[in-house]
Amino acid sequence: MATANPTGTESRSRVLLTRRIPSSLLSLLESGASVELYDGPTPIAEDELKRRLSGKHGMVSVLTDRVSAGVLEAAADLKVVANIAVGFDNIDVAAARARGIVVTNTPDVLTNATAELTWALILAVTRRVVEGDRLVRRKGWKGWTLDFMLGTELRGKQLGIIGRGRIGRAVGERAAAFGMHAVFAARGERTSDLPELSLDELLVSSDVISIHTPLRAANRHMIDRRALARMKRTAYLVNTARGPIVDEEALAWALKERLIAGAALDVYEREPEVFAGLLELDNVVLAPHLGSATRETRTAMIELAIRNALAVVHGKPALTPVP
Ligand code: GLV
Repeated sequence: MATANPTGTESRSRVLLTRRIPSSLLSLLESGASVELYDGPTPIAEDELKRRLSGKHGMVSVLTDRVSAGVLEAAADLKVVANIAVGFDNIDVAAARARGIVVTNTPDVLTNATAELTWALILAVTRRVVEGDRLVRRKGWKGWTLDFMLGTELRGKQLGIIGRGRIGRAVGERAAAFGMHAVFAARGERTSDLPELSLDELLVSSDVISIHTPLRAANRHMIDRRALARMKRTAYLVNTARGPIVDEEALAWALKERLIAGAALDVYEREPEVFAGLLELDNVVLAPHLGSATRETRTAMIELAIRNALAVVHGKPALTPVP
Protein backbone atom coordinates (compact mmCIF):
# COMPACT_ATOMS: atom_id res chain seq x y z
CA MET A 1 0.00 0.00 0.00
CA ALA A 2 1.25 3.52 -0.67
CA THR A 3 2.43 5.25 2.49
CA ALA A 4 2.63 8.88 3.48
CA ASN A 5 6.15 10.16 4.13
CA PRO A 6 7.04 13.05 6.48
CA THR A 7 6.87 15.64 3.68
CA GLY A 8 3.25 14.72 3.13
CA THR A 9 3.79 13.33 -0.39
CA GLU A 10 2.82 9.73 -1.03
CA SER A 11 5.56 7.18 -1.69
CA ARG A 12 4.66 4.69 -4.40
CA SER A 13 4.60 0.96 -3.99
CA ARG A 14 7.70 -0.70 -5.37
CA VAL A 15 7.54 -3.83 -7.50
CA LEU A 16 10.30 -6.05 -8.88
CA LEU A 17 9.67 -7.46 -12.33
CA THR A 18 12.01 -10.32 -13.24
CA ARG A 19 11.52 -10.41 -17.04
CA ARG A 20 11.01 -7.85 -19.78
CA ILE A 21 7.34 -7.55 -20.80
CA PRO A 22 5.62 -5.69 -23.67
CA SER A 23 5.63 -1.92 -23.17
CA SER A 24 1.83 -1.59 -22.94
CA LEU A 25 1.81 -4.05 -20.05
CA LEU A 26 4.80 -2.39 -18.43
CA SER A 27 2.85 0.87 -18.57
CA LEU A 28 -0.05 -0.84 -16.80
CA LEU A 29 2.27 -1.96 -13.99
CA GLU A 30 3.92 1.46 -13.85
CA SER A 31 0.50 3.10 -13.55
CA GLY A 32 0.26 1.64 -10.06
CA ALA A 33 3.82 1.16 -8.83
CA SER A 34 7.46 2.07 -9.27
CA VAL A 35 8.95 -0.79 -11.22
CA GLU A 36 12.45 -2.23 -11.11
CA LEU A 37 13.17 -4.58 -14.00
CA TYR A 38 15.65 -7.43 -13.87
CA ASP A 39 16.66 -7.91 -17.47
CA GLY A 40 19.51 -10.42 -17.23
CA PRO A 41 20.09 -13.07 -19.89
CA THR A 42 19.51 -15.93 -17.42
CA PRO A 43 17.02 -16.45 -14.58
CA ILE A 44 17.78 -14.22 -11.62
CA ALA A 45 20.22 -15.79 -9.14
CA GLU A 46 19.18 -16.19 -5.51
CA ASP A 47 21.57 -13.56 -4.13
CA GLU A 48 20.58 -11.03 -6.75
CA LEU A 49 16.91 -11.73 -6.08
CA LYS A 50 17.40 -11.21 -2.34
CA ARG A 51 19.22 -7.96 -2.98
CA ARG A 52 16.64 -6.61 -5.40
CA LEU A 53 13.68 -7.58 -3.22
CA SER A 54 14.91 -5.36 -0.43
CA GLY A 55 12.36 -2.54 -0.05
CA LYS A 56 9.98 -4.06 -2.62
CA HIS A 57 6.29 -4.53 -1.86
CA GLY A 58 5.57 -6.77 -4.79
CA MET A 59 7.27 -9.15 -7.20
CA VAL A 60 6.03 -10.19 -10.63
CA SER A 61 7.81 -13.49 -11.21
CA VAL A 62 8.16 -16.16 -13.87
CA LEU A 63 8.40 -19.91 -13.41
CA THR A 64 12.18 -19.99 -13.72
CA ASP A 65 12.55 -17.77 -10.61
CA ARG A 66 13.23 -19.81 -7.48
CA VAL A 67 11.39 -17.99 -4.71
CA SER A 68 12.67 -20.01 -1.75
CA ALA A 69 12.03 -19.59 1.97
CA GLY A 70 15.45 -17.91 2.20
CA VAL A 71 14.51 -15.37 -0.47
CA LEU A 72 11.21 -14.62 1.25
CA GLU A 73 12.95 -14.25 4.61
CA ALA A 74 15.18 -11.56 3.11
CA ALA A 75 12.19 -9.64 1.68
CA ALA A 76 10.90 -7.79 4.75
CA ASP A 77 8.45 -5.50 2.92
CA LEU A 78 7.13 -8.01 0.40
CA LYS A 79 3.34 -8.45 0.26
CA VAL A 80 2.83 -10.37 -2.96
CA VAL A 81 4.53 -12.71 -5.40
CA ALA A 82 2.50 -12.67 -8.62
CA ASN A 83 3.69 -15.58 -10.75
CA ILE A 84 3.15 -15.39 -14.51
CA ALA A 85 2.22 -19.09 -14.67
CA VAL A 86 -0.54 -21.37 -13.54
CA GLY A 87 2.03 -23.62 -11.82
CA PHE A 88 3.65 -22.28 -8.67
CA ASP A 89 6.05 -25.03 -7.64
CA ASN A 90 8.88 -22.47 -8.08
CA ILE A 91 7.61 -20.63 -4.99
CA ASP A 92 7.73 -21.83 -1.39
CA VAL A 93 4.04 -21.11 -0.81
CA ALA A 94 4.07 -22.39 2.80
CA ALA A 95 6.95 -20.03 3.68
CA ALA A 96 5.12 -17.15 1.96
CA ARG A 97 1.89 -17.88 3.87
CA ALA A 98 3.79 -18.00 7.14
CA ARG A 99 5.03 -14.46 6.42
CA GLY A 100 1.65 -13.17 5.27
CA ILE A 101 2.87 -12.85 1.67
CA VAL A 102 0.17 -13.52 -0.92
CA VAL A 103 1.10 -15.79 -3.84
CA THR A 104 -0.94 -15.57 -7.04
CA ASN A 105 -0.94 -17.54 -10.30
CA THR A 106 -2.63 -17.21 -13.71
CA PRO A 107 -5.32 -19.89 -14.01
CA ASP A 108 -8.00 -19.98 -16.75
CA VAL A 109 -6.27 -17.64 -19.20
CA LEU A 110 -3.89 -20.38 -20.39
CA THR A 111 -6.27 -23.32 -20.35
CA ASN A 112 -7.11 -23.19 -24.05
CA ALA A 113 -3.52 -22.67 -25.23
CA THR A 114 -2.26 -25.57 -23.13
CA ALA A 115 -5.07 -27.85 -24.25
CA GLU A 116 -4.33 -27.00 -27.90
CA LEU A 117 -0.62 -27.70 -27.44
CA THR A 118 -1.49 -31.02 -25.81
CA TRP A 119 -3.48 -32.01 -28.87
CA ALA A 120 -0.66 -30.83 -31.14
CA LEU A 121 1.65 -33.21 -29.27
CA ILE A 122 -0.84 -36.10 -29.29
CA LEU A 123 -1.24 -35.77 -33.06
CA ALA A 124 2.47 -35.22 -33.66
CA VAL A 125 3.54 -38.36 -31.82
CA THR A 126 0.78 -40.70 -32.99
CA ARG A 127 1.21 -39.64 -36.66
CA ARG A 128 5.03 -39.34 -36.46
CA VAL A 129 5.02 -35.78 -37.78
CA VAL A 130 8.30 -34.65 -36.19
CA GLU A 131 10.08 -37.89 -37.02
CA GLY A 132 8.92 -37.49 -40.64
CA ASP A 133 10.10 -33.88 -40.73
CA ARG A 134 13.56 -34.97 -39.55
CA LEU A 135 13.68 -37.67 -42.23
CA VAL A 136 12.72 -35.25 -45.02
CA ARG A 137 15.29 -32.69 -43.89
CA ARG A 138 18.12 -35.21 -43.87
CA LYS A 139 17.05 -36.27 -47.38
CA GLY A 140 16.16 -39.74 -46.10
CA TRP A 141 12.72 -39.93 -47.71
CA LYS A 142 12.74 -42.39 -50.62
CA GLY A 143 9.09 -41.89 -51.64
CA TRP A 144 5.56 -43.06 -50.86
CA THR A 145 5.03 -46.75 -50.10
CA LEU A 146 2.11 -48.65 -48.57
CA ASP A 147 3.82 -49.43 -45.31
CA PHE A 148 5.91 -46.28 -44.88
CA MET A 149 5.91 -44.56 -41.46
CA LEU A 150 2.61 -45.92 -40.29
CA GLY A 151 1.19 -44.32 -37.19
CA THR A 152 -1.79 -44.91 -34.95
CA GLU A 153 -5.29 -43.59 -35.49
CA LEU A 154 -7.06 -41.89 -32.59
CA ARG A 155 -10.68 -42.63 -33.43
CA GLY A 156 -12.26 -45.18 -31.12
CA LYS A 157 -9.32 -45.06 -28.69
CA GLN A 158 -9.22 -44.15 -24.99
CA LEU A 159 -7.59 -40.96 -23.77
CA GLY A 160 -6.52 -41.28 -20.13
CA ILE A 161 -6.20 -37.90 -18.43
CA ILE A 162 -4.34 -37.67 -15.14
CA GLY A 163 -5.88 -34.74 -13.23
CA ARG A 164 -9.36 -33.29 -13.48
CA GLY A 165 -8.53 -29.60 -13.24
CA ARG A 166 -9.27 -26.95 -15.86
CA ILE A 167 -6.61 -28.04 -18.36
CA GLY A 168 -7.32 -31.76 -18.02
CA ARG A 169 -11.02 -31.14 -18.57
CA ALA A 170 -10.33 -28.87 -21.57
CA VAL A 171 -8.18 -31.59 -23.14
CA GLY A 172 -10.96 -34.11 -22.43
CA GLU A 173 -13.62 -31.88 -24.01
CA ARG A 174 -11.67 -31.83 -27.28
CA ALA A 175 -11.39 -35.66 -27.38
CA ALA A 176 -14.79 -36.11 -29.00
CA ALA A 177 -13.59 -34.15 -32.05
CA PHE A 178 -11.15 -37.02 -32.71
CA GLY A 179 -13.63 -39.76 -31.80
CA MET A 180 -11.75 -40.54 -28.58
CA HIS A 181 -13.29 -41.47 -25.27
CA ALA A 182 -11.78 -39.56 -22.33
CA VAL A 183 -11.40 -41.01 -18.83
CA PHE A 184 -9.82 -39.35 -15.80
CA ALA A 185 -7.77 -40.33 -12.77
CA ALA A 186 -7.35 -37.79 -10.01
CA ARG A 187 -6.53 -37.65 -6.34
CA GLY A 188 -9.11 -36.73 -3.74
CA GLU A 189 -12.87 -36.92 -3.64
CA ARG A 190 -14.82 -37.28 -6.85
CA THR A 191 -16.28 -33.85 -7.53
CA SER A 192 -17.98 -34.25 -10.89
CA ASP A 193 -19.62 -36.83 -13.08
CA LEU A 194 -16.53 -37.22 -15.28
CA PRO A 195 -15.76 -40.88 -16.05
CA GLU A 196 -13.11 -41.77 -13.49
CA LEU A 197 -10.78 -44.73 -13.06
CA SER A 198 -8.06 -45.46 -10.53
CA LEU A 199 -4.59 -44.48 -11.76
CA ASP A 200 -3.71 -48.12 -12.31
CA GLU A 201 -6.91 -48.81 -14.27
CA LEU A 202 -6.19 -45.75 -16.42
CA LEU A 203 -2.58 -46.84 -17.03
CA VAL A 204 -3.49 -50.34 -18.17
CA SER A 205 -6.46 -49.43 -20.35
CA SER A 206 -5.60 -46.12 -22.11
CA ASP A 207 -4.20 -45.67 -25.60
CA VAL A 208 -2.96 -42.12 -24.96
CA ILE A 209 -2.18 -40.89 -21.43
CA SER A 210 -1.89 -37.16 -20.84
CA ILE A 211 -0.71 -35.59 -17.57
CA HIS A 212 -2.48 -32.48 -16.25
CA THR A 213 -1.80 -32.28 -12.55
CA PRO A 214 0.28 -29.77 -10.57
CA LEU A 215 3.66 -30.95 -9.31
CA ARG A 216 3.53 -31.93 -5.64
CA ALA A 217 5.92 -33.82 -3.37
CA ALA A 218 3.54 -36.80 -3.61
CA ASN A 219 3.54 -37.07 -7.41
CA ARG A 220 7.24 -36.58 -8.15
CA HIS A 221 8.14 -39.53 -10.41
CA MET A 222 4.52 -40.76 -10.34
CA ILE A 223 5.28 -42.09 -13.83
CA ASP A 224 8.21 -44.38 -13.06
CA ARG A 225 9.36 -47.74 -14.45
CA ARG A 226 6.55 -49.56 -12.72
CA ALA A 227 3.87 -47.22 -14.08
CA LEU A 228 5.32 -47.33 -17.60
CA ALA A 229 5.43 -51.13 -17.50
CA ARG A 230 1.69 -51.14 -16.70
CA MET A 231 0.89 -49.22 -19.92
CA LYS A 232 -0.14 -50.92 -23.15
CA ARG A 233 2.74 -51.65 -25.53
CA THR A 234 0.84 -49.58 -28.12
CA ALA A 235 0.19 -46.58 -25.82
CA TYR A 236 1.60 -43.04 -25.85
CA LEU A 237 2.48 -40.77 -22.91
CA VAL A 238 2.13 -36.98 -23.11
CA ASN A 239 3.34 -34.54 -20.45
CA THR A 240 2.53 -30.83 -20.59
CA ALA A 241 2.31 -30.41 -16.80
CA ARG A 242 5.64 -30.48 -14.96
CA GLY A 243 8.75 -32.48 -15.80
CA PRO A 244 9.48 -34.11 -12.42
CA ILE A 245 6.13 -35.96 -12.51
CA VAL A 246 7.80 -38.31 -15.04
CA ASP A 247 11.06 -40.12 -14.32
CA GLU A 248 12.88 -39.24 -17.56
CA GLU A 249 15.44 -42.00 -17.22
CA ALA A 250 12.63 -44.57 -16.80
CA LEU A 251 10.80 -43.09 -19.78
CA ALA A 252 13.89 -43.35 -22.00
CA TRP A 253 14.21 -46.98 -20.95
CA ALA A 254 10.54 -47.74 -21.69
CA LEU A 255 10.73 -46.05 -25.11
CA LYS A 256 13.97 -47.77 -26.03
CA GLU A 257 12.69 -51.20 -24.96
CA ARG A 258 9.40 -50.46 -26.80
CA LEU A 259 7.41 -51.02 -23.62
CA ILE A 260 5.29 -48.12 -24.87
CA ALA A 261 4.88 -46.85 -28.44
CA GLY A 262 5.89 -43.23 -27.95
CA ALA A 263 5.87 -40.09 -25.86
CA ALA A 264 5.60 -36.35 -26.29
CA LEU A 265 7.01 -33.97 -23.70
CA ASP A 266 6.74 -30.23 -23.24
CA VAL A 267 8.31 -30.16 -19.76
CA TYR A 268 11.43 -31.70 -18.25
CA GLU A 269 12.96 -32.57 -14.91
CA ARG A 270 15.84 -30.08 -15.20
CA GLU A 271 14.81 -27.50 -17.82
CA PRO A 272 16.31 -26.55 -20.16
CA GLU A 273 18.32 -29.80 -19.91
CA VAL A 274 16.77 -32.92 -21.38
CA PHE A 275 17.83 -36.41 -20.32
CA ALA A 276 20.41 -37.46 -22.93
CA GLY A 277 18.81 -40.88 -23.50
CA LEU A 278 15.64 -39.20 -24.79
CA LEU A 279 17.48 -37.12 -27.38
CA GLU A 280 18.60 -40.26 -29.22
CA LEU A 281 15.11 -41.69 -29.66
CA ASP A 282 12.81 -41.24 -32.64
CA ASN A 283 9.61 -42.22 -30.83
CA VAL A 284 9.54 -39.15 -28.59
CA VAL A 285 8.53 -35.61 -29.52
CA LEU A 286 10.37 -32.97 -27.47
CA ALA A 287 8.87 -29.47 -27.27
CA PRO A 288 10.59 -26.62 -25.38
CA HIS A 289 7.93 -25.79 -22.72
CA LEU A 290 5.46 -24.14 -25.11
CA GLY A 291 2.16 -24.94 -23.34
CA SER A 292 1.05 -21.34 -22.86
CA ALA A 293 3.23 -19.85 -25.59
CA THR A 294 0.75 -17.97 -27.77
CA ARG A 295 0.65 -14.20 -28.11
CA GLU A 296 -2.93 -14.06 -26.86
CA THR A 297 -2.32 -16.19 -23.80
CA ARG A 298 1.01 -14.69 -22.74
CA THR A 299 -0.53 -11.20 -22.91
CA ALA A 300 -3.45 -12.34 -20.76
CA MET A 301 -1.12 -14.08 -18.26
CA ILE A 302 1.11 -11.03 -17.83
CA GLU A 303 -1.89 -8.73 -17.44
CA LEU A 304 -3.47 -10.99 -14.81
CA ALA A 305 -0.20 -11.18 -12.86
CA ILE A 306 0.11 -7.38 -12.95
CA ARG A 307 -3.47 -6.91 -11.75
CA ASN A 308 -2.82 -9.36 -8.92
CA ALA A 309 0.37 -7.55 -7.87
CA LEU A 310 -1.23 -4.11 -8.02
CA ALA A 311 -4.32 -5.23 -6.11
CA VAL A 312 -2.30 -6.59 -3.20
CA VAL A 313 0.23 -3.74 -2.98
CA HIS A 314 -2.76 -1.36 -2.85
CA GLY A 315 -4.34 -3.29 0.00
CA LYS A 316 -7.00 -5.09 -2.02
CA PRO A 317 -7.64 -8.84 -2.32
CA ALA A 318 -5.77 -10.73 -5.02
CA LEU A 319 -7.81 -11.74 -8.07
CA THR A 320 -6.37 -15.24 -8.31
CA PRO A 321 -4.50 -16.29 -5.15
CA VAL A 322 -3.07 -19.80 -5.34
CA PRO A 323 -5.38 -22.41 -3.82
C1 GLV B 1 3.43 -23.08 -17.41
O1 GLV B 1 4.05 -24.08 -17.35
C2 GLV B 1 2.63 -22.56 -16.37
O2 GLV B 1 2.61 -23.13 -15.26
O3 GLV B 1 1.97 -21.55 -16.59
